Amino acid sequence: MRQIIFSFKDSLISDSELANVEKKIQEEIDHMDKAVTLGYKDDRASMNLPFDKDALRTVKALVNEKIKLNPRFIVVVGIGGSNLGTMAVQEAVLGKLYNQLDPKIRIYYAETVDSDAMNNVVSILESALKKGENVIINGVSKSGTTTETVANFEILVNLLKKYKENHEQYVVVTTDKDSKLWNFGKDKGFAVLEIPKKVGGRYSVFSPVGLFPLGLIGVDIDSLLEGAVQMRDICLSKNIMENPAALSAALICLQYHKGKNIHNLFLFGSDLESVGKWYRQLMGESLGKEYNRKGEQVFEGITPTFSIGSTDLHSVAQLYLGGPFDKFTTFVTVENSRSKIDIPNLPEYSQLVDNIQGKPLSEIMDAIEKGVKIAYRKRKRPFIEVILPDKSESSIGQLLQFKMMEMMYLGALLEVNPFDQPNVESYKSETRKILANNNE
Ligand code: PA5
Repeated sequence: MRQIIFSFKDSLISDSELANVEKKIQEEIDHMDKAVTLGYKDDRASMNLPFDKDALRTVKALVNEKIKLNPRFIVVVGIGGSNLGTMAVQEAVLGKLYNQLDPKIRIYYAETVDSDAMNNVVSILESALKKGENVIINGVSKSGTTTETVANFEILVNLLKKYKENHEQYVVVTTDKDSKLWNFGKDKGFAVLEIPKKVGGRYSVFSPVGLFPLGLIGVDIDSLLEGAVQMRDICLSKNIMENPAALSAALICLQYHKGKNIHNLFLFGSDLESVGKWYRQLMGESLGKEYNRKGEQVFEGITPTFSIGSTDLHSVAQLYLGGPFDKFTTFVTVENSRSKIDIPNLPEYSQLVDNIQGKPLSEIMDAIEKGVKIAYRKRKRPFIEVILPDKSESSIGQLLQFKMMEMMYLGALLEVNPFDQPNVESYKSETRKILANNNE
């Protein structure tokens, strides 16, 4: 397995600045070391998911059982931490246009309560069901009570019921043990997969939340987890220079304290867009906190943004290179694409753009990446780099594990709890009150 590379030579942080956060980092490494031995009893439980052979066996058995039903579609019904990890892996490994490439099993996502978007999903499924094709509905909700998820789940299970006699066998729910959805699923005869209690939504991609739908569409979940296993060990290294998660967290934190309160994950690859969405939630929800660990009101947080290269260079590069010095960037680049595509060697096109005829697209992308980094250096815009060998399951597994552990280190450095989301809960309960009042 080829390892991802982390480079920090353009971070504009000195060794002496780094030394200032060393003590806190070492303390967090000690906590993580302890968490390794605690299974799912510690808040850092997600670190142990890739090692859970029982959960993997359960997921694989269910995948095999459902494959026998010959499904043509799976719909993941979930939002936030309950679908973004799945989407990130699926798009990175199989491509954003996966469904259009005539795969054996197509995957759709039902996330928000957008009538038009849901109507499209319903139309696609209904025409398949009318033809006698089979559809798996995977309802994913840690709490089991998220309004959007339950609304969409109800619509889709009801649709299944209309066309399938034993509709229960096409439904899988993934949730916390003993949640309302867990009990409901058991009552109805749906297959039920467990999310360990201490694993929060945004840290749950290596649990059945991600593994079941990804396994069903043929993603190599063994390799995904192998990448994560390898990265967990590297990110526990006591030598911060050999620990990319700790080092990246330290640099992001030090730049934040120097006024870079925006972190931009700049991903060079269209299929990495959902990795950007996943990371935005991870950073936003983990670090954006009203209170610190001591209970003091701090209104802490680094604002996460993501950009896609080279597309977004044509929309926001002007701001990044000429605007305020309030951003720290992580460039994510990919060494080897899945495919090679060459520009034809047609001389008459050289009058439009010269020096590209006959070259592979990857060479153009490479030149753009190098050009952007030179421009950032010249404009004194600090950045760090993550280089993926490719977008294979093992590389993406490494990347996601790296970023989740980076967030745990950042929580320690900023002295906030990176595992809760008290203010998200507050808007959810307000929504429920409004819906209850509408009923009166
Ligand atoms: O990170 C989180 O915990 C949240 O963003 C949740 O993922 C999101 O709100 C969905 O919640 P649930 O999985 O309980 O339906």
